[in-house]
Amino acid sequence: MKIALLTSGGDAPGMNACIRAVVRTGLYYGYEVYGIREGYKGLVEDEFVEMGRHDVSQILDRGGTILGSARLDEFKEKATRKIAIDNLKRRGIDYLVVIGGDGTFRGAIDLEKEGVKIIAIPATIDNDVSGTEYTVGFFSALDTSMEAIDKLRDTSFSHQRCTVVEVMGRDCGDLSIYSGIACGAEMVITSETGFSETDVMKKVQKGKDDGKRHLIIVVAENITNVGQLAKKIQKNTGYDSRASVLGYIQRGGSPSAFDRVLASKMGILAIDLIKEDVHNQAIVSKGLHIDHMLIEKALSTKVDRPDLYQYLDKIR
Ligand code: F6P
Repeated sequence: MKIALLTSGGDAPGMNACIRAVVRTGLYYGYEVYGIREGYKGLVEDEFVEMGRHDVSQILDRGGTILGSARLDEFKEKATRKIAIDNLKRRGIDYLVVIGGDGTFRGAIDLEKEGVKIIAIPATIDNDVSGTEYTVGFFSALDTSMEAIDKLRDTSFSHQRCTVVEVMGRDCGDLSIYSGIACGAEMVITSETGFSETDVMKKVQKGKDDGKRHLIIVVAENITNVGQLAKKIQKNTGYDSRASVLGYIQRGGSPSAFDRVLASKMGILAIDLIKEDVHNQAIVSKGLHIDHMLIEKALSTKVDRPDLYQYLDKIR
């Protein structure tokens, strides 16, 4: 039996732990395991490398992905996928394990329809795969944003400032709302909350009137320009304001204990399913309890967390 695996899309802490679990479990069952470099791009360009147990030594705690990752828009085209499928067939690969976020899953759904047997493991800092409670990498990125916002709060407090901080997440507000709860932000603005400048000004004014020494406003990326928002807040309310964009530091660093365990359990289940000839499945989590469902089903709804936004309303 031959299994290939790849990591695709934005990298996430814990991808290496996942690679290690897939490779080691595959070898445990006596399978040949091949890593594909640079995600779907390497699949198209035939960048396969056979992996032994020592190829995944000393990577459990490392951020990023040893296989490399890429985004390949052309993978949406059938002709590009045909090249990838031909490569898999020529090499006699029986199953493909893909590790990534919603874009990776969409590529997997297309490949399955075209006859490739796939298991998809959710790994992205965005937590934007609705079928799983947590994706690999989300909690590590949350730790990073929490540490950064804690530091911003220190200086905001000293200088009596309002800090507007941009958090990653593409179209998903999870990293923002969880950061807001973890850091006691006064406001969190995401696509779920909607964005009204008038509302922001009113809340900042109220904070100022209530004598708050500092304010933290977490804004999800792709909502507004945080630098301009901070300037407008200062102009309209007189509250000294600054902006910070956390950016790519959220994607790097050693995975948390939670992500290492989650990634390991997900990687093991992926191979256990393959052993039973089960495919077209996404591995999903409810906390650290691991299960699986159709890949398509794992993407069928939009991530929505009304309960979390209510928590914030109650404790801010
Ligand atoms: O998907 C992870 C992520 O970091 C998103 O939060 C962000 O929108 C995007 O990737 C950035 O992508 P790129 O690495 O292509 O700039």
